[in-house]
Amino acid sequence: MAGVSCKRDFEGGEDAEKGDFVGVKHMTDVGLQRLPTKYVLPVTERPILKPVAVIQERHLPVIDISGLGGERHSEVVAAIGQACQEAGFFQVVNHGVPVSMIRDIMRVASEFFELPLEERKTYMSDDMTKPVRYGTSFNRLKDQVFCWRDFLKLYCHPTQKWVHLWPSNPPDYRKVALDYSEEMRSMAERLMSAIIESLGLPQTYVEKICKDGSQVMVVNFYPACPEPELTFGMPPHTDYGCMTILQQDSVGGLQVLRNGEWEAVHPVPDSFIINIGDHLEVLSNGKYKSIMHRAVVNSERSRVSVATLLSMPFESNIGPAPELIDEDHPPHYRETNFSHFIDLISTKTFKARALLDSLKLA
Ligand code: OGA
Ligand code: NI
Repeated sequence: MAGVSCKRDFEGGEDAEKGDFVGVKHMTDVGLQRLPTKYVLPVTERPILKPVAVIQERHLPVIDISGLGGERHSEVVAAIGQACQEAGFFQVVNHGVPVSMIRDIMRVASEFFELPLEERKTYMSDDMTKPVRYGTSFNRLKDQVFCWRDFLKLYCHPTQKWVHLWPSNPPDYRKVALDYSEEMRSMAERLMSAIIESLGLPQTYVEKICKDGSQVMVVNFYPACPEPELTFGMPPHTDYGCMTILQQDSVGGLQVLRNGEWEAVHPVPDSFIINIGDHLEVLSNGKYKSIMHRAVVNSERSRVSVATLLSMPFESNIGPAPELIDEDHPPHYRETNFSHFIDLISTKTFKARALLDSLKLA
């Protein structure tokens, strides 16, 4: 590979275009110094890496959820409801997830990306519905410009159905990911129950949304990038499902769009970042917001995040909850389902807010 690393059209990038997988981790491992053309965004879409303000706590509330189910229950539910309505994003602390479990999942996530490329590649697939899928960017076959991210995506629910397919290396990957995803499920159910209550909807919705709904773990690896001003770790997007629970290391890179400005989210150790997805915006008839966010990369440090995506059951439809609709509150979205979303992402080039835009009623 000697001699190629200073050229813009590094072989690895070109190979990726021809269908051979390399990924960004490998390119940094071999000392790439300039981004392959495939990763260079058009000038108008590039992140402007001028300092971005750090989002203030009142716009990204930190919520202590230990009070759910106790004396402070209504207070916590109200805080969650307000955060969903005003910010679409919040952080949770005192969540009951053991710190050792958080440390372990972040460790095995990093260790997986340190495996030789040949081993990681055995999980590689372009089939968006594969229960275990290793890849780069979002959709390698459709993305016009790639983003600076490799990922490992695992189906998690019910765990017994999928665990035997998960990577067996690092040796404790399965055990750690199993404990973590079951803990995430339990926290997601507590949060979803609070969210449904805060909307004034009956708890039957929790079951409708959570029971048999999908849970996917996405491990994102963003290597240090030689030209971070030309690309994204993840371009601006909203999350499609009901809710995302993000755990990240201390590097930082997540930014949230607020009043037309990007604001940086400062990692708070051992907390989780929760955000509302498109399907919950639809269910709430627009009261709760699925907010645009993105991840930027930097030239100094690689970054790892583990996102848990909670979605409706594959076959069920979702629309604005009838309880929230009356003469004064007409539905703002048409009904949709999960397969509509899969069609959208697998047939079209990536577009921010594509799902919500396709559902919005005038
Ligand atoms: C996501 C996401 C941001 C991050 O996985 O949907 O937005 O900081 N991740 O990794
Ligand atoms: Ni996201």
